[in-house]
Amino acid sequence: MNKPKPLLFHLFHLNLPPKPLFSNPIHLMALSQTQTPTTHSDPPQNDDSDDLLCSNPRHNHEEQCSSSLDETPSSISSTGKYLIGVSRFERAWAHWTKLGRPKFIVAPMVDNSELPFRMLCRKYGAEAAYTPMLHSRIFTENPKYRSEEFTTCKEDRPLFVQFCANDPDKLLEAARRVESYCDYVDINLGCPQRIARRGYYGAFLMDNLPLVKSLVEKLALNLNVPVSCKIRVFPKLEDTLKYAKMLEDAGCSLLAVHGRTRDEKDGKKFRADWNAIKAVKKELRIPVLANGNIRHMEDVENCLEETGVDGVLSAETLLENPALFAGFRTADWVAGNEKDYVDGKLDQADLVVEYLKLCEKYPVPWRMIRSHVHKMLGDWFKLQPQVREDLNAQSRLTFEFLYSLVDRLRELGVRVPLHQKDTSAARDSVEVVAI
Ligand SMILES: Cc1cc2nc3c(=O)[nH]c(=O)nc-3n(C[C@H](O)[C@H](O)[C@H](O)COP(=O)(O)O)c2cc1C
Repeated sequence: MNKPKPLLFHLFHLNLPPKPLFSNPIHLMALSQTQTPTTHSDPPQNDDSDDLLCSNPRHNHEEQCSSSLDETPSSISSTGKYLIGVSRFERAWAHWTKLGRPKFIVAPMVDNSELPFRMLCRKYGAEAAYTPMLHSRIFTENPKYRSEEFTTCKEDRPLFVQFCANDPDKLLEAARRVESYCDYVDINLGCPQRIARRGYYGAFLMDNLPLVKSLVEKLALNLNVPVSCKIRVFPKLEDTLKYAKMLEDAGCSLLAVHGRTRDEKDGKKFRADWNAIKAVKKELRIPVLANGNIRHMEDVENCLEETGVDGVLSAETLLENPALFAGFRTADWVAGNEKDYVDGKLDQADLVVEYLKLCEKYPVPWRMIRSHVHKMLGDWFKLQPQVREDLNAQSRLTFEFLYSLVDRLRELGVRVPLHQKDTSAARDSVEVVAI
């Protein structure tokens, strides 16, 4: 590959601009002990090539420390305290309002809601985004983890940076490193996976609410940005409501509620309980977000209306269709209503190409890129499984290979369009799948 240019000058152009292009592309950013952005280190020389960064630009340190990134967040007063003098709920709402009250939000996803993916979703309608969950202890101890797992840029706002934690001091230490670069520091209280059980974090802290309270209080009392939490519901509504109230009382300024319990791990099998989310929204005075069952814009509209929440998070469906919030939907969500939809003149291969360009600009580990290519092109691979096998056979990926993979699919005649609601008289030109 050619020697990469400094990222600040690494401009690129996207083909389909429903929104203006990002005006000021910036670098990757890793946070040092002293809270200043630092340069990326060399890629780790290990055997697992998927863990290598997809490129390793030599950053110019002066470019990295652009003044915009050194500014304190605009919501922090000159005394360093966040909006002193108004009540806590008013502060929470003032902050949310200042961010433009975003409604369409990219949920946190380990290895999947990284910077290039967030930027792709933002281009297609997402109004805010969460980082993947970061492990607070490792974040404080390991510079390589920090520089690879947390990257952002000026246009990557509003941004929630999510941590898992079970030690309030470690959590605060980790949060202080990122607070200047985000709009909320979020605590993951919802991860139900075995790794969270072993590490004692996420949804397993639902068994230790005093610890949860101490995590929230620690951040709320000491950070300059508000603290948010993402929870799962308890099987009993009254427990969920008590839990939510406790979080609010402890200083949580925004709550995202995933309407499934800790045991309802499979999102395809269990529907999220919007009634529980609605009840939480009614109970609390801070902004509340809903998570679960958001697969297209009709779901978004229904969820906002039925629950009264202030915004929605989407995860799995966005991975297949990062243009969800711009009104595009996959064929799965058109089936049975074909006459109401038209070819949106955008497809997942277009989105993969845009994503790859973003990855060239904002390098990330190859494993993340591999995962996104599989998810975005899943429907295409079903029609040409050989191409998927060729991808799987590559132990080391390159951008050249991935761009040519998309070209090959197109040459093979595969095209699976994303669809949009038919608002015109162009019904006759509907092309559901053209091969
Ligand atoms: C690949 C993947 C990674 C995830 N990682 C996180 C995470 O880091 N933190 C978190 O709070 N939830 C995580 N989740 C859960 C999602 O944020 C979300 O709560 C869940 O998928 C339900 O939303 P959905 O029905 O839109 O998929 C992850 C989900 C997926 C699919």
